[in-house]
Amino acid sequence: MADKVPYLDLPAQIRGIRKEIDAAIARTIDNCSFCLGPDVAQFEKDFARFIGAEHCVAFNSGTSALHVALLLLGVGPGDEVVTTPFTFVATSWAISYAGAKPVYVDVDDATMNLDPKLLERAITPRTKVVLPVHLYGHPFDLDPILAICRKHKLPLVEDACQAHGAKYKGRIVGASGDISCFSFYPGKNLGACGEGGALVTNNSAFAARARSLREHGSTTRYYHDEVGFNYRMEGIQGAVLGVKLPHLQKWTDARRRMAHRYHELLRDTPLQLPREAGYAESACHLYVVRHPRRDELKKHLDDNGVGCALHYPLPLHLQKCYAALGHKPGDFPVAEKAARECLSLPIYPELTDVQIRRVVEVIKGFFATTG
Ligand SMILES: Cc1ncc(COP(=O)(O)O)c(C=O)c1O
Repeated sequence: MADKVPYLDLPAQIRGIRKEIDAAIARTIDNCSFCLGPDVAQFEKDFARFIGAEHCVAFNSGTSALHVALLLLGVGPGDEVVTTPFTFVATSWAISYAGAKPVYVDVDDATMNLDPKLLERAITPRTKVVLPVHLYGHPFDLDPILAICRKHKLPLVEDACQAHGAKYKGRIVGASGDISCFSFYPGKNLGACGEGGALVTNNSAFAARARSLREHGSTTRYYHDEVGFNYRMEGIQGAVLGVKLPHLQKWTDARRRMAHRYHELLRDTPLQLPREAGYAESACHLYVVRHPRRDELKKHLDDNGVGCALHYPLPLHLQKCYAALGHKPGDFPVAEKAARECLSLPIYPELTDVQIRRVVEVIKGFFATTG
């Protein structure tokens, strides 16, 4: 039987930089700078520069960064935040943690990102923030969304948790809205050896308050200006991210080449393939194909040793945890169809051409035998 192709191969990534990672972790242990510390501070500077923003505040997760972003913008009980139903649930967690209500807007069928054409009708007097997601690493259409935000005097928070290094009209995403949030969960394009996240902004007052909120609402030890959180990044994660950041561009380029290769090899199959919008340079965090017989195809891939995954099998408005919002099937039909059809194929910088061809061979085998 042909070699298995894992959906994700983190050991392969670590192998290539293992010595540098070991040295960075050893330095943190020698310094005992376990919570924040010099490596985290240096990473904050480097990541802000990479994004092209004034400030980066490191967090213990992307979810925590999103939560604090909404608090900085004054989101609280009784408020609404307009967002997408087709994302990882943490986008909506942040809204719920702030005590506000997620108001969903359906997605665009081509990019599966929040559809700017549907945004304005979701805005009410209670809307406090607009929170779209750069899903799968493909930027959402920033300009029309920013124009609607400006018209209604609403702040924009970019959930860029999957989009490190993605570009919109040639500019790296994460510095156009009021605040953007990133995740450094290990499987992300830029992943820690554990949990991590960041809040990025050009607003100095937001950055200063974010630093206080992540550290128990305090700027002077044991004096607490407001109720805060323990949302600090661990020193070891800052050290690891500092090692990985210089590799990110090369890794993104490799992901983009692989997406291109998949496209070349799969374009004569019945699959709906991801396509970059004219304004976009995707970070290719995920390579998501679509087909109505997705579940059968997934089983065929699983049976033939090709890893694949579903992002995401159930949109947020139909999740049990959000039953109280009162949504029903059919409310966001484009997201619901995407959830039924989406299938994520392996994509990571260490994936080889042989492995890509094996994935394609197994997919073609499925259509050859089942029509
Ligand atoms: C779109 C999106 N938003 C938010 C998050 C939350 O990030 P984290 O897992 O670091 O809390 C993630 C990642 O898991 C994500 O993919």
